[in-house]
Amino acid sequence: MLNILFIGDINGRPGRNAVKQLVPNLISEKKIDFVIANGENSAGGFGITKDVFDDLMAARINCVTMGNHIWDKKDSMGLIDSEKRIIKPANMPPGTPGNPYGIFSIDKNGIEIKIGVINLIGRVFMSPMDCPFRTADKIADEIRKTTNIIFVDMHAEATSEKMALGHYLDGKVTAVVGTHTHVQTSDERVLAGGTGYMTDAGMTGSFDSVIGIKKEIIIKKFLTGIPDKYEVAELDVHFNGVICTIDEISGKTIRLERLDIKYEKS
Ligand SMILES: [Fe+2]
Ligand SMILES: [Fe+2]
Repeated sequence: MLNILFIGDINGRPGRNAVKQLVPNLISEKKIDFVIANGENSAGGFGITKDVFDDLMAARINCVTMGNHIWDKKDSMGLIDSEKRIIKPANMPPGTPGNPYGIFSIDKNGIEIKIGVINLIGRVFMSPMDCPFRTADKIADEIRKTTNIIFVDMHAEATSEKMALGHYLDGKVTAVVGTHTHVQTSDERVLAGGTGYMTDAGMTGSFDSVIGIKKEIIIKKFLTGIPDKYEVAELDVHFNGVICTIDEISGKTIRLERLDIKYEKS
C-alpha cells in the first residue's frame, strides 16, 4: 500500500507556514510516501518563484502542480520550464514552456515505485485551452507504459467538468482530485472502476478571507468595480488536502482521507 498526500492550493506565506509545520508531521504520522501540492498561489497568492519553490521542497513536498496563475510571476518561466518537479497544466496551448506530466521514482522498502502526475486545467468559466479529457487520455496512456500509478490534479472552476473528468478517467488513473476553487468539497470517494475522486481539495491558507485574499479588498471590488492591489489574508489558516491510499500494483485507490487541519503556530 502506498499513501500519496495531495495539498490544495497553497496560498502565500500563511499557507507555506502551515505546510512547513504540518507536512513533516503528516509524513510520519500517516506514513506518507509521496507529497504533491498545488503551488499556483504559493508566492504572494500569485504564481511561484525559485525561493518559494525551494521553501516547498524543504517542507518535503515532492512535486508541485499549477493552474491558471502559472505565469503570474514573469521571472518564473525559466524555472517552470527547467524544473522537473513542477508540472504545468498539460492542456495549455502547444509551445507553452514547462512539463506536461512527471514520472517520479520512490524507494519503498527497497522496491522502486514510479508515480505519474498529470495537471489539467478546466475550460468552463476559464480561459480557452485544449481539451482536458483528450489530453488526459493521451498522457495517461503514455504514463501507463511505465506505471499504473497516475495522480491527476484537475484545476477547474465547474464541479460538473471535474466530476465528468473523474468518471471519464475512472479505471484509467489512480485519482482525480480538483483544485482552483479554494473551497474544499466533502465528496471524496472511490469510483466504480477504482479511481479516487474529490471535486476540490480546498486551500491551504487563510479562511478569514475571500478565497485567500483579504476580504475587505474583494468586497470593495464587488461594491465599486474598482480594482485594487490584492493582498494575501493571514488569519484563521487551515491546511487542506487529501490522503490517497493506493494498491501500488494495480494503481487503484483503496480509500481517500480528507484533511482540513486548523494551523496553530507552534
Ligand atoms: Fe488557486
Ligand atoms: Fe486557479
